[in-house]
Amino acid sequence: MQQGSYGRTWLLAGVLMGLSFSLCAHATGNAALGKKKFYTCYGCHGIPNYRNAYPAYRVPKLRHQHAAYIIAALHEYKAGERPHPTMHAQASSLSDQDMEDIAAYLQGPEPIAPSTQLTGKMPPQAQTCAACHGANGTGIAAPLVPKPPILAGQHEDYLIQALDQYRSGRRKNPIMMGMARSLSSEADVRIVAHWFASQHSALATATPDSK
Ligand code: HEC
Ligand code: HEC
Repeated sequence: MQQGSYGRTWLLAGVLMGLSFSLCAHATGNAALGKKKFYTCYGCHGIPNYRNAYPAYRVPKLRHQHAAYIIAALHEYKAGERPHPTMHAQASSLSDQDMEDIAAYLQGPEPIAPSTQLTGKMPPQAQTCAACHGANGTGIAAPLVPKPPILAGQHEDYLIQALDQYRSGRRKNPIMMGMARSLSSEADVRIVAHWFASQHSALATATPDSK
C-alpha cells in the first residue's frame, strides 16, 4: 500500500516535470529512406536474440516501437543521457532527419494500439506502471509526451537492464528514474520485467524482410 502511494507521488511529479498531452505525436520521416539508413543497424538489431557482450543482455526489439520514442532514445544516446558507447557512436552519426526516417521505418504505418488483453494475472508491482504503459505494456489511449515505449513482448533481460540503469541513475530520464526507484527491490524489478516481457504485442526484431 505504502509503495502504491509512493508511486503515485512520483506519477504526479512526472506530470509536473513536463509530462503533457499533445495531439501531434506523429513523426514526419520517410520510411523507405529510413529502411536504407537502418542498414548498419541490422548487424545487431536485425538478428533475433542478438546479445550485447558485456553486460550480457539481448539487444532491444525495435520493429513497431513508437516512432516518437525511437527519436527520443536516439537523442538521449547522442546527448550521453543513456550510457552505451556503441549506441552513442551510432546516434552521433545520425542527423535529426535520419532519426525521423529510421523511426518511421521501424514503427511502420500502423502504430501498436493499446490493448487490454492480459496473459496471466498482473502483479501488484506493475500497478503504477499501468498509468502510462498500460496494464500489459501496450500503452494507454491518452497521447502522452514524452511517449512511453511499448514494453509488451520486449526482451526480459533488456527490460531488467533498462530498469537497473534508471535505478542507478546512469540512464537519466527523470520520470523513469523515479518510477524505477519506486520498485522496492531487485526482485520487484524482475517481477515487472517478466510481466511486461510475457505480454503480447507486435513488437519484433527488425529483420530486413520484417513486416
Ligand atoms: C553493435 C551493436 C549495435 C548496433 C550496430 C546498433 N545498435 Fe542500437 N542498441 C544496441 C544495444 C546493445 C542497445 C541497448 C543499449 C542500452 O542498454 O541502452 C541498443 C539500443 C537502441 C535503441 C533504444 C531502444 C529502446 O528500447 O530504448 C535504439 C532506438 C537503437 N538502438 C537504434 C539503433 C539504430 C538506429 C542503429 C543504426 C544506426 C543501431 N541502433 C545500431 C546495439 C546496437
Ligand atoms: C508517468 C508515466 C510513466 C510511468 C508511470 C512509468 N513509465 Fe516507464 N517510461 C515512461 C517514459 C516516458 C519512458 C521513456 C523514458 C526515456 O526516454 O528513457 C519510459 C521508459 C520505460 C522503460 C524503458 C524501455 C526501453 O525500451 O528502453 C522501461 C523498462 C519502463 N519504462 C518500465 C516501467 C515500469 C516497470 C514502470 C512501473 C514501475 C513504469 N515504467 C512506469 C513513462 C512512464
